[in-house]
Amino acid sequence: MRLGKKMGVVAAGAALALTLTACAGEGAGSDSGSEDNTEAAADGDLSVGVAMPTETSERWIADGDAVKSGLEEAGYSVDLQFAGDDIPTQTQQIDAMITGGADALIIAAIDGTALTSQLEAAAAADIPVISYDRLIRDSENVDFYVSFDNYKVGVAQATALLSGLGLTDEAGEPTGEEGPFNVELFAGSLDDNNAHFFWDGAMDTLKPFMDDGSLVVPSGQTDIDQAATLRWQQETAQKRMEDLLTSTYNDGTELHGVLSPYDGLSRGIITALQGVGMGPTMEDGLPVVTGQDAEIASVKLIQDDVQQSTIFKDTRKLADQAVVATESYLAGEEPEANDTETYDNGVKVVPSYLLEVDTVYADNITELLVDSGYWTQEEIDAGQAE
Ligand code: BGC
Repeated sequence: MRLGKKMGVVAAGAALALTLTACAGEGAGSDSGSEDNTEAAADGDLSVGVAMPTETSERWIADGDAVKSGLEEAGYSVDLQFAGDDIPTQTQQIDAMITGGADALIIAAIDGTALTSQLEAAAAADIPVISYDRLIRDSENVDFYVSFDNYKVGVAQATALLSGLGLTDEAGEPTGEEGPFNVELFAGSLDDNNAHFFWDGAMDTLKPFMDDGSLVVPSGQTDIDQAATLRWQQETAQKRMEDLLTSTYNDGTELHGVLSPYDGLSRGIITALQGVGMGPTMEDGLPVVTGQDAEIASVKLIQDDVQQSTIFKDTRKLADQAVVATESYLAGEEPEANDTETYDNGVKVVPSYLLEVDTVYADNITELLVDSGYWTQEEIDAGQAE
């Protein structure tokens, strides 16, 4: 198996050499760059730069590790960098990858619009760019996109909220319950393309219930601009929830649920709710709070009846797709897309490979997360990754 993959790399190297020769013949790319790459390819010594946004969220660490080990297993050397959610740090890291001779780039952008000059440099050096999970916007120079079906993530979050309130079942079928239920809405970081997809999927799902009055947003904050959370910061969400509790719920108005698009935000929101005496568990009256990413601390909260749900995105599968796409490019081929319509980055529709997601509730943690080997039961009980 291992040997087969390594042999694949040699073949990939040969194919790349041919591609580069062809490019050079047509006048594209710099001659010296092509020679360097050709030699590297012949040695089977191709390198891939992997730029991840931050180490403060577990999922990006897991993504980074999985992409790195997948690429290394396929025979590439890997430069993996995390940027501490700081845009200049990420642009510098990508600049360094390009000048350091990366043969391909895999990028999960902090700000999807901030990488234009890096992408131009990559294109000039014939380096394929794979946008990882977050679409890079406003640039011609993005070759491929690997992600999950982000609109469906929003639909799943809203469906979890509705089913937690009893307005629908877990499949989203209305139960006939009329409410009204009071909810507040949170969105992610507006510079992350995904935040808009999550929001649109959620709002399209919630709208019929808001229209018929069974769902009410007492604060009136139903625009994404009002609900947004810059850089997906937990503290920012906690603060906004505290402010909402003061401005809108001080008079005894009941809050029944909160749409939260990411586990980190969910934990901030839950802290704010518990801080004014709600809960501590849903059984004790804590509002229904959704999430995303199946972070270990949140999975424990779900097990403990504190957080209601999360969306499980299997980062191992996403990493695999990024590796497969990289292998295709470095073999001189186009990766296989399963969506060529949805992800318009403002300049072009980026061919994409999208994966499906699952909703985790207390009763399917074992099936989705433990049986699949994503977390062990011990990790969930401890609320901490080993
Ligand atoms: C990802 C989510 C993640 C969020 C915050 C988004 O781009 O798709 O999985 O929760 O960033 O890190």
